This record gives sequence, C-alpha cells and structure tokens, in this order.
Amino acid sequence: MALRTAITKRMITSHGSRSISSWWKHVEPAPKDPILGVTEAFLADPHPDKVNVGVGAYRDDNGKPVVLDCVREAERRIAGNLNMEYLPMGGSNKMVEETLKLAYGDDSDLIKDKRIAAIQALSGTGACRIFADFQKRFSPDSQIYIPVPTWSNHHNIWRDANVPQRTFHYYHPESKGLDFASLMDDVKNAPNGSFFLLHACAHNPTGVDPTVEQWKEISYQFKVKGHFAFFDMAYQGFASGDPERDAKSIRIFLEDGHLIGCSQSYAKNMGLYGQRVGCLSLVCEDEKQAVAVKSQLQQLARPMYSNPPVHGALIVSTILGDPDLKQLWLKEVKGMADRIIGMRTSLRENIEKLGSPLSWEHITNQIGMFCYSGMTPEQVDRLTKEFHIYMTRNGRISMAGVTSGNVEYLAKAIHEVTKAA
Ligand code: LMR
Repeated sequence: MALRTAITKRMITSHGSRSISSWWKHVEPAPKDPILGVTEAFLADPHPDKVNVGVGAYRDDNGKPVVLDCVREAERRIAGNLNMEYLPMGGSNKMVEETLKLAYGDDSDLIKDKRIAAIQALSGTGACRIFADFQKRFSPDSQIYIPVPTWSNHHNIWRDANVPQRTFHYYHPESKGLDFASLMDDVKNAPNGSFFLLHACAHNPTGVDPTVEQWKEISYQFKVKGHFAFFDMAYQGFASGDPERDAKSIRIFLEDGHLIGCSQSYAKNMGLYGQRVGCLSLVCEDEKQAVAVKSQLQQLARPMYSNPPVHGALIVSTILGDPDLKQLWLKEVKGMADRIIGMRTSLRENIEKLGSPLSWEHITNQIGMFCYSGMTPEQVDRLTKEFHIYMTRNGRISMAGVTSGNVEYLAKAIHEVTKAA
C-alpha cells in the first residue's frame, strides 16, 4: 500500500503540472449569456443609480424581489412536515395534478381520461429540454420551428438536444406587433407534420400575442397541416392577470383536438425562480399511450438528475391544493400583472412628456413582463455606458424592473439615446 502511494506520488511529480493542465488547454471561455450575463454586469457596477431591466424577474415598487404571501404561508405549513426523501423520477404527483388543471382546465376530460403524460420538471427550461430530448429520441428526423424572435435559451435547448432548428416569422419590426400574414405563410409552407414551438401567452421577448381569433386560425391551419404544437407557458397569469384567461391559446388547440405538448413554470407566476419547479406534459391518444410516454420521459430524467427537488413542488401543491391559498395566489398574480401594466403607462407617458418624436404606443400595447422597445443594440449600449441601465441588447425591457422610483430616469435615458434616430 505504502509502495503504491509512493509510486503514484512519483508519477504525479515526474509528469509535472504540464500534463495535468494540458487536459483543458483547448477550452475557450464561453460567450456570456445574453440575458443572465446582463445581471452579472449589473451586479459588478458600483454606480448608486444603476437600473436592471434585463432578466425577467418580478420586483416590487421598491425594486426588491418578492416572496408572495401565499408562498410564505405554504412554507409555514410545510415546515416540520417536510422529510427529505426522494421524489419519484416523475416528481410530485400532487403538484403535477394541480399544474395540469391550470393548463388544461379544472374539468378537462383529458385529465379525467388520464390521457396526459406529465412529469415535474426543472422549471420551464427543464421541461423544454426534456421535451427536446424526447423529440430527438422518438422523432429523430424531425426539426423544430422556432419564432423570430424568441427567448434566447430556446435555441440553446434544442441545439443541445441535437434537434435541427428552423424559424418562422412572428414579430413585425415596423408595426411592433404580430406579423400574422407571414406567420401563417410559414405554417402553411412547413412540411406536413412539423414541430412548432409556440409561446402560450406573454411572448418573450416581444410582449406580442396573437388575438383569440388569430389563435383559432393558427390552430385550424395546424390541423390542416398535421403540425405538432409545443407550448411554452412560462408566464401564465402575467399576460392578463388571470391564469385561466392566459391558457386560452392552449384551450383553443385542445378544442380542435390537437395532441399538444406543454411546458409550465412557476418561476414567474409564483415567484419561485430559484426553486426550479415546473411541469412537462404531452397529450396522448389514450391512457395506455400516456403511461408509455410518461415512462420514457422519466427515463430521460433519470440519467440527467434522477428525480426533481422536493421543496418547490411542495410549495406549489400546498398552495393549489387549498382553495383559500389558491385564491390568495390568484390575487397576488393579478397584483404583479397590474403593477407592470401601471408601469407601462407611466414609462410611455414619461417618454412622451419629453417630446419624443417617436411613437411609444407599443409600450402599452404589448403585454406580459416585457416591452420590446425597438431600441438598437447600439442604443442599448449607450444606456448602459452613460446611464448605468442594464438590459438585453435586443432592446427588451423587463417591465418588472421598472418602478415609480426609476421610471422617470429610465424615460429620460431612453429619450436621450433615441431622439436623434
Ligand atoms: C428571461 O427571459 O429573462 C427569463 O426567462 C430568465 C431566463 O432564464 O432567461
């Protein structure tokens, strides 16, 4: 034993640090994440008046992160009753059950007939990623159609799952609204049976959603073409203030008999950002198929993280499983959405008051957590350098970071960098 230790030591010293350090010589630093990199830069800035409207994370009117009262109460109830056992590979059945009701409706026949394969996921990102891997495994030749623009991480997710990406038109830069005609053309021109990624509500980054009538047309055309719709629903409740209304796009597709997929997240609407709690669901033809699909989803989770964390799931199931706590949650979601709507009006008014030659109507027309301002990357760079205002270079303003205290400063800065445009 002593001899072996001595030999090993000698091998390490005789090879020296050269061979050890050479393992990763070829590794270049990864590019900064376009969203989370903004937070890093914001934190590193010592300026006292700095403003972070980068990441989509809700703040109160004092710019402070919020823990909802329903969450605090759920934690109080959980405390003492929590054991640290593993959840099943598919996560908390109770949490998943309650979560499906939010997307598919309390009285959904699909739920009653056990036609939905669903697992707890590591928030929306985890749900999208498991789905992308599932798509690759069981429809290996398929591609995914992604809207332009979209949440930057969508591209990373399907790239890492090795699913080829195509894009479809979504946003119209001139009108700062939906490019519905081009979207429909792309849906029609895609090969039959294509996979499409759709934002269920409060589109990120544009804040532009199709109307109910437009969703109906999209659903109809998907039916004609036999396309598969995968809904990413990261902002349920943030579009209208009412989670039920925000599920309308999904319900329209379900009424038309689509077998959809859906990613849900509690990061925003319950403020459970760091708890990483969400759900992936796939509507199947019957219960037997749902059992098979769920087993495969679990199979994908097992080598990746084995089973999901318990705490966030317990918070969610405690809130949604109790009628009073659920009511409190609904009230609090509406409160968050309303504060953002108020800030949209205030930001627009403040910019207009300064005599901006540009139209800022889109600030109040767009919905959800984000305003897609139309500012160029260079204008955003000026906001950061000259005014210590941090946001993504695509011009997206996280309205959740706008407060009564910083809205005037933000408006002045935006006016300053855009007035000569
Ligand atoms: C965002 O778009 O800012 C959020 O979804 C946070 C994230 O993970 O990018």
